[in-house]
Amino acid sequence: MAERETPAATKSMDDIMALCKRRGFIYQASEIYGGINGFWDYGPLGAQLKKNLRDAWWNDVVMVPCGGRRGPTGEPVRMVPVDSCIIQHPRVWEASGHVEGFNDPMVDDRETKARYRADHLMGVFVVWEVPKHDAQKTGAELMSALATLVEPQSSSPYPEFMVVAPHAAEALSSLAADPKQIPRLKRAQPINAVRGDGAALALLHFGERAFVARVGPVDLALLGREPERFPAPVTGKKGVLTPPRAFNLMFKTYVGATATEDDVAYLRPETAQGIFTNFKNVVDTMRVKMPFGIAQMGKAFRNEVTPRNFTFRSREFEQMEIEFFCHPSEARAWYGFWRDWRMQWWESVGLKGENLVLREHATDELAHYAREGAGTSDIEYRFPFTAPGYGELEGVAHRTDFDLRRHQEYSGVKLDYFDAERGERGPSGQPRGERYLPHVIEPSAGLDRGVLALLCEAFTPDPARASGVFLRFRPRMAPIKAAVYPLVNREAMPEVAARLHADLVGRFGRDGFIEFDAKQTIGKRYARMDEAGCPFCFTVDGQSLQDMTVTVRDRDTQQQERIGLDAVPAFLADRLAR
Ligand code: GAP
Repeated sequence: MAERETPAATKSMDDIMALCKRRGFIYQASEIYGGINGFWDYGPLGAQLKKNLRDAWWNDVVMVPCGGRRGPTGEPVRMVPVDSCIIQHPRVWEASGHVEGFNDPMVDDRETKARYRADHLMGVFVVWEVPKHDAQKTGAELMSALATLVEPQSSSPYPEFMVVAPHAAEALSSLAADPKQIPRLKRAQPINAVRGDGAALALLHFGERAFVARVGPVDLALLGREPERFPAPVTGKKGVLTPPRAFNLMFKTYVGATATEDDVAYLRPETAQGIFTNFKNVVDTMRVKMPFGIAQMGKAFRNEVTPRNFTFRSREFEQMEIEFFCHPSEARAWYGFWRDWRMQWWESVGLKGENLVLREHATDELAHYAREGAGTSDIEYRFPFTAPGYGELEGVAHRTDFDLRRHQEYSGVKLDYFDAERGERGPSGQPRGERYLPHVIEPSAGLDRGVLALLCEAFTPDPARASGVFLRFRPRMAPIKAAVYPLVNREAMPEVAARLHADLVGRFGRDGFIEFDAKQTIGKRYARMDEAGCPFCFTVDGQSLQDMTVTVRDRDTQQQERIGLDAVPAFLADRLAR
């Protein structure tokens, strides 16, 4: 069957969230107490889906790095794992720069008590009013006329309205979905895509009148100097916003019973630093040879000012990080290698080409230490809430020797590496060795964002089927691998199905759930499996009792074929590897 695509922009995030709740993928944390903002729990299917993605990363990064392919310098990719503590010595976070610099600018609305990330305030600058006769034109006619216009400069740096979104594309799609965010706004239509300055044009309809507006980031320095001239989001009221203030995103805690300021510690905001602090231990104990990587996955915590978009920006989340150490002269080659391979990996778990992009950072976006490096790129996915724009799944950065140098400085412990295979050659032709601080390439991925991308990608509305929607996971990722059903709960069908179920659990149960259900109509049971993303349902029917065959229903095509009962394990083994 030709694959039917559902563009990201037309998938409803509300529908995806409702399905996640209904089918036990993701629940709000502490829901029976009213929930807690920025925290999400995974239900049975979500926990297994997350495990499948985590296992895929572990297998493809740690156990068989990069599927066995060789690195840019010809040698195999070497990788070892660590599992470090969430709470580390507080000096770790001074050395890493997080105590001083891990801040978001925050703005409060004194009246409503709402709190916003200042860099997530998108200004709506009204540029001109569309003449009345044009405003009456049909949408398409007017849009094509406006799209050819050269944009005039907005004369004012003060926006007329503000909306909350991390970038212009998302501001536009949220305005289109919910115009009430701007008082009296009836309709918002995007005119053009986001340009280099991060802004885009939109057509805003207020009753009979229409205006062209520029939607994009506001001048934060100006907001700091004259907050009273900026309207608050939602209410539009001026004079109620505070100037932006730096807000450190690390969660603080106290270690020990006295709980004084001397006992302050932090929940890690990234797993990466536990790799750098163990670099010397790994080198001293594991006979690792440069170049090599250390991988770690685990929880990270950030007290995000505005957690939003389901699990996309949470306060507790999981990361999958690699710090790949190499000689400085090889950093550029390894950077390109990791960037390209990580992109291919996301495709291999089921994210499609057109929803996945690799975005190389412009120089002014780079961290100061990365400016001398080979570059930084983001692997981004087109989530329904970012469409037509993209949101970050993973960053790949050449971090130079910044982290090892800082930890060396702050701890007083030497972290350089003696490379016996480099350096000038002695009289016998043997290299004399070279001592250096390795450079680092860091592919840093978010597990929860990965799971969310898999769910958004798999979500496929289909009004023609009973469930109205199905989840088209790659079989390798699907949390339920197969279902075994007796057509009806009588004669010998349940017994035959139960035997097949037990056999499949024994063979495939380590990779995911194998469902058994004898109740309800077969249509309802298939519909439930469609919503859960189960790729195959095996049904034992009357004919099975005569000739020991079963039907296999394919989730994507809904086609059924009949195969021998004894052929089921081989059939499933073949399909699950895909
Ligand atoms: N060590 C580098 C580092 O932590 P980052 O870009 O801040 O870099 C890496 O984070 C990845 O972690 C992101 O690409 C994203 O997938 C995930 N991530 C970051 N903040 C997150 C949050 N608040 N909620 C969910 N995932 C997050």
